[in-house]
Amino acid sequence: MALVLPIAASASCGHAREGSRLARATAATAAPLAEKASTEARVQANTKCEGCHEEVAREWRGSRHRAAATNARFMRGFDREPLAWCVGCHAPAFDTEEPLRAAADIGVSCIDCHRGVETKVAAAQAADHRTPGPANAASPVSCGTCHEFPFPNQPSVAMQWTVTEHRRSSFAQTDCGGCHMPPQEGRPHRDHRFEVSDAMIRQSSSVEVSRTARGISFELRAGRIGHAFPTGDTFRRIRIEAQTLDASARVVEQRTRLLSRRMPKAGPGGRAQMEDDRLFLADSVGRIELAFERPERTIRYRIAYERAESERDEGTPQTDVVELAHGSLPKVRRP
Ligand code: HEC
Ligand code: HEC
Ligand code: HEC
Ligand code: HEC
Ligand code: HEC
Repeated sequence: MALVLPIAASASCGHAREGSRLARATAATAAPLAEKASTEARVQANTKCEGCHEEVAREWRGSRHRAAATNARFMRGFDREPLAWCVGCHAPAFDTEEPLRAAADIGVSCIDCHRGVETKVAAAQAADHRTPGPANAASPVSCGTCHEFPFPNQPSVAMQWTVTEHRRSSFAQTDCGGCHMPPQEGRPHRDHRFEVSDAMIRQSSSVEVSRTARGISFELRAGRIGHAFPTGDTFRRIRIEAQTLDASARVVEQRTRLLSRRMPKAGPGGRAQMEDDRLFLADSVGRIELAFERPERTIRYRIAYERAESERDEGTPQTDVVELAHGSLPKVRRP
């Protein structure tokens, strides 16, 4: 089930290592936006949208899009690698001549998704901005300006590729907004919180657990999910753990599998492979077996989704954890 992608492994977590200071940075390689107005003009335009579309604005204010450049995990990452490249997606209104703060405050804003609308609003009456409208804004292509991109120093290797995953999934006909912007009862607009709640994560798959001759098997089936599980940032992963217990419930053996993308060190010739064994990349069912020396003992298991901060992070307080399943299988008699 592992998918192998070529990659040069000079990057620690995929980002370019020699991060120059933002003020000096010029390498805005992946800035997804077309022509840029000044930060101030863009912040003002956004304030105008908020003024007329109050309910949408309230939802967006509480979203991770809005907090894309101010949330703690991003800020720690950006401290390590302060590249203009990052800001091109996390605070696109940023203009290198001005302080980051104003742009960071609006993060991924109205005008980053509703392109072209700001000029219409500035030029004419409000009613005039019905077109170009958001008709295709919910399509993978539009979300893909930020949700599908390569490593900055490895243009042929995908760092996030949610759009490609989506195209291969059994929900390819449902656009991103179909799951991430549900229509809301009693409100005329689609949900702008873009919330990926714990409940949504739990509904993305179901698991069946059974004994095998060697230990325990997990069969994970895709639920309502339109891409790999997990998708997005490289440090999202599924942790599968099992332990055998003795008669007094003490742990005898412990096994762990992490399903994620991993970036090993470069081999000879400077090239290495990126290994990707997340779920539902090619198939809507994933099977994992954990084997033990003495599989007949009681087996305790746990499956969790984790948002970590690095590949090696073994569960610091910064790691978000959503438990998907846990339980135990009683011991069996030896024949
Ligand atoms: C002066 C008030 C006003 C301002 C400023 C304003 N809008 Fe609107 N907008 C409206 C009205 C009124 C409508 C039509 C009714 C509706 O759909 O809410 C509308 C409709 C829309 C629609 C739906 C278009 C469609 O085809 O159904 C979008 C998207 C939108 N606005 C985005 C924006 C964005 C982005 C900004 C800021 C750049 C903005 N608006 C600024 C009043 C405003
Ligand atoms: C201008 C860039 C940009 C565009 C366009 C964009 N996003 Fe995002 N999106 C981001 C960034 C950056 C984050 C991460 C925010 C953070 O740091 O937590 C994000 C986060 C998300 C999340 C995670 C929210 C959560 O609570 O875990 C979802 C879902 C999402 N985006 C869906 C979409 C969809 C659907 C579209 C298209 C309609 C879209 N995005 C368009 C940049 C963008
Ligand atoms: C059929 C429903 C469905 C569709 C279609 C869908 N998603 Fe998701 N998405 C989910 C579920 C369920 C999760 C939670 C599990 C996970 O994080 O992988 C999720 C999670 C995410 C996350 C959050 C990852 C995180 O780290 O918190 C992002 C970003 C995202 N989706 C973007 C997209 C984009 C972009 C598209 C379109 C290309 C899309 N999704 C299409 C169901 C869907
Ligand atoms: C991450 C991308 C994204 C951001 C940020 C965003 N929107 Fe939207 N918006 C969309 C998409 C996609 C649709 C289309 C939903 C559909 O019609 O399927 C939409 C629809 C709308 C509509 C039409 C009514 C509806 O919801 O169907 C309005 C009005 C609107 N947005 C205003 C705003 C305003 C104001 C902001 C900022 C406060 C904003 N949007 C921020 C992506 C975004
Ligand atoms: C081409 C667009 C793009 C660029 C460039 C980019 N990111 Fe992101 N980043 C995203 C998107 C989209 C997400 C949301 C995926 C998800 O939630 O899993 C994200 C998520 C993250 C997260 C996780 C946030 C959270 O709430 O957990 C961190 C941290 C992060 N990015 C840091 C950075 C840093 C640091 C840089 C520059 C070295 C950078 N990103 C460059 C698009 C980008």
